Amino acid sequence: MTVSAESTASGAAASAGTAASNVTPLHPERARSATDAALPDPSEPWWKSTTIYQIYPRSFADSNGDGIGDIPGIIGKLDYLQTLGIGAIWLSPIFASPMDDNGYDISDYQAVAPEFGTIEDFDRLVSEAKARGIGIILDLVVNHTSDEHRWFTEARKSRDNPYRDYYIWRDPAPDGGLPNAIPSVFGGPAWRFDDATGQYYFHQFSRRQPDLNWANPRLRAEIYAMMNWWLERGIAGFRMDVIDLIGKEVDKGITAEGPHLHDYLKEMHRETFGGRDVLTVGEAWSATPGSALLYSGRDREELSMVFQFEHVTQGWDEDHGKWKPKPLDLVALKGVLGKWQLALAEDGWNSLFWGNHDLPRAVSRYGDAADYHVASAKMLATVLHLLKGTPYVYQGEEIGMTNAGFESIEEYRDIETLNMHRLHLEAGRSPEDFIAGANQNSRDNARTPMQWSEAPNGGFTEGVPWIAVNANHRQINARTAVADEQSIFHHYRTLIGLRKRHGVIVDGVFRSYLDQHPDVFVYTRTLGDERLVVVASFADHQVSLTLPDELRLSGACLISNYQPVSSLGETVSLRPYEAFAILKG
Ligand code: NOJ
Repeated sequence: MTVSAESTASGAAASAGTAASNVTPLHPERARSATDAALPDPSEPWWKSTTIYQIYPRSFADSNGDGIGDIPGIIGKLDYLQTLGIGAIWLSPIFASPMDDNGYDISDYQAVAPEFGTIEDFDRLVSEAKARGIGIILDLVVNHTSDEHRWFTEARKSRDNPYRDYYIWRDPAPDGGLPNAIPSVFGGPAWRFDDATGQYYFHQFSRRQPDLNWANPRLRAEIYAMMNWWLERGIAGFRMDVIDLIGKEVDKGITAEGPHLHDYLKEMHRETFGGRDVLTVGEAWSATPGSALLYSGRDREELSMVFQFEHVTQGWDEDHGKWKPKPLDLVALKGVLGKWQLALAEDGWNSLFWGNHDLPRAVSRYGDAADYHVASAKMLATVLHLLKGTPYVYQGEEIGMTNAGFESIEEYRDIETLNMHRLHLEAGRSPEDFIAGANQNSRDNARTPMQWSEAPNGGFTEGVPWIAVNANHRQINARTAVADEQSIFHHYRTLIGLRKRHGVIVDGVFRSYLDQHPDVFVYTRTLGDERLVVVASFADHQVSLTLPDELRLSGACLISNYQPVSSLGETVSLRPYEAFAILKG
């Protein structure tokens, strides 16, 4: 396996380092000659021209045979990630946790979970990654803790415990029932009665994930100190779990985007990462284009960007939500993606993603994993990576991993899926119907282990994996993909490299065409004299198009998933899932 010129260049830039602090910022490829105006603007933040890779540690690579992925396993795969060309890793939580929600329930923010390794392993990960031009972005889960966190074990001891107010406690309603009707995301009410002190506590996720009370300044100060402790270890930023929920006002029924949310984010910025060259991305299911500008506006001093989910939720059923997804509606999907491109065109910044550890596999949801696996996975990558924003690749997406295909509830591990299975069956839904929905949208679709090779268990572990490995690892695996220059992996590698070299991909103005066409996504990106035309078919059959005049042009084909295409006439005929991009300069 050879290491690309791109990743070598960014590695050198990063290890040279430019920061005054011990936090070395990662500047991928800043050098450019004055005459080469096509390169990304070097005065822009590094995270605008790089691509982030998400690792779900439990499912990535197991180094010690216990069936659970770990940090030494990740270190062993850094060369693979360097070859892919990514600039940073978003690491899902690696902290001490009883693992009720696979680490999104933290019992000690400053300790590494023993199944994932030690703090020395973590420090080695940061330095080994940095040597390859890769930053480590930690998952900051501060809307809630585990019920085993010391703050909570203290808080529940008595009503006057000094930690009581770190959490949200309410008396029972006059009839002895729940304080109000707010539901938990994982099913059932968001309130749990605590016998010892006779009050309910609030938990928006599992009952083992009590919500923190951000109105308490002492709590906020502890969180900022913890963040600084990690920043001082040299991390490249934070992904912030359900950050839109921290400003909640439960008595008014407000959970998301509460009145003090942006005050807290500004304070956090000031007290922690402001002034450091890091990436911050907030998970915000409730974000609208308007609020995204508040989170990520240039002069707001809050976050670099947010993950918004409108393109995901527009595909859910009105009654059963994600558990009964609707068939893909490309016109609606384009409408949402285009709306966000336009809304954040002048200010703010988009994150770009098809998948993560909570979502189905991209090729299963938006492509055709059965009949056009390679073509459709490449098409999806092309469409996403040439939009304006920072792309995120979820582990295994770069080799076209597919949904799990579990046939019975016994194979599932995810707390949300198991809770919802019980609740839907109690409400009268048939097990078959529920499994059909879970097959499409359970979070476990993304959590089956990374498929490294055709070896038993896909080379993920030499032990018994905590969740079954997809049987298709014999065909779909990283070893085969890296060896094949025509693979999905190399298509991603090319796209990631293109973003580093072309300012038009980073900053070009977005415009879409043929918005009502049910099968194709056509858009342009324009910067100065340069114009990038992206044409992609979401159809499993041939599609013929008539193009508007301004798209009839010729130039250099930057990427394609069939043969290169370098000119467009009045009509174009697209093969199933064909996608290409032409640059006219
Ligand atoms: C969002 C995370 O992505 C998800 O995995 C988790 O269950 C919830 N937040 C609660 O932390």
